[in-house]
Amino acid sequence: MRQLAERVAVITGAAHGIGLALAEAFAAEGCRLVLADLEAHPLEAAAGRLRAAGAQVLAMPTDVTREGDLQALSAITIDTFGAAHILCANAGVTLAGRPISALAAADWRWILDVNVMGAVHALNAFLPILKAQDEAHVMVTASGVGSFTGSAFNAPYSASKAAVLSLTESLYRELRTEAPHVGVTALCPGAVATTLRASERRRPGAARPADAATAREHGLRASAVADMALAAIRETRFWAITHPEDGDILEQRGRDARAGRDPS
Ligand SMILES: NC(=O)c1ccc[n+]([C@@H]2O[C@H](COP(=O)([O-])OP(=O)(O)OC[C@H]3O[C@@H](n4cnc5c(N)ncnc54)[C@H](O)[C@@H]3O)[C@@H](O)[C@H]2O)c1
Repeated sequence: MRQLAERVAVITGAAHGIGLALAEAFAAEGCRLVLADLEAHPLEAAAGRLRAAGAQVLAMPTDVTREGDLQALSAITIDTFGAAHILCANAGVTLAGRPISALAAADWRWILDVNVMGAVHALNAFLPILKAQDEAHVMVTASGVGSFTGSAFNAPYSASKAAVLSLTESLYRELRTEAPHVGVTALCPGAVATTLRASERRRPGAARPADAATAREHGLRASAVADMALAAIRETRFWAITHPEDGDILEQRGRDARAGRDPS
């Protein structure tokens, strides 16, 4: 998709981190924006800043675990802009630091609901609209290490991100025959400085309110990730791997499996 200006870009998880940086990058290209997030106040603040800078923005509080929220989002997108050309299924959460033996089924369900079913709900709601355009693109935020290998003390996240990458690759293969004018990108970030480590405040029934102050962590700037993501969309490229060394993990895994060796 070479021409981004005037396109309608839909982003889930748009109030913070990578989603917010994507919104800023699309706005700089002249896209119209549909921003969705669980955290209503930061979402509206972000939308206000983008509007003040001249962007056309629709912002809607959305819980990606609820299929009806995404269906409502696609309906209001059509009412407002008449189209959607780019979908970024980006919302995600983590529960890092716990061994599998300390995780309850409810912990797994929350991570899988947001990370996997959230992407599925977004695809269900927006794919028919994207297919109806002359040109469109889906980008799903997977992970680098998280998608490429199982990680100790982060099992639900790794399992969810492996599923998300598989889903995205399946989508790519299907659309090549079903709708070749819809490009697909798997965004696979390494460590990025975002609020991801504060995910637990976004859990239903969390002690801290969802809109509590933002936590920052180490890693690449989210704006740099957004630049790489937009380059992949422009070039209709499947892989957007922010830390190229993460690709070595995939190669090593393949070599280990082929040689019958235990995971490196
Ligand atoms: N930060 C990293 O190092 C890193 C690395 C690899 C992949 N990722 C992925 O990047 C994506 C964006 O995360 P980020 O790092 O920008 O973190 P972030 O926490 O800053 O942003 C995630 C956003 O998703 C929103 N969200 C959470 N649950 C939601 C729900 N149920 N419905 C709607 N919105 C919800 C949050 O409110 C937040 O605005 C995630 O899928 C994450 O797994 C991040």
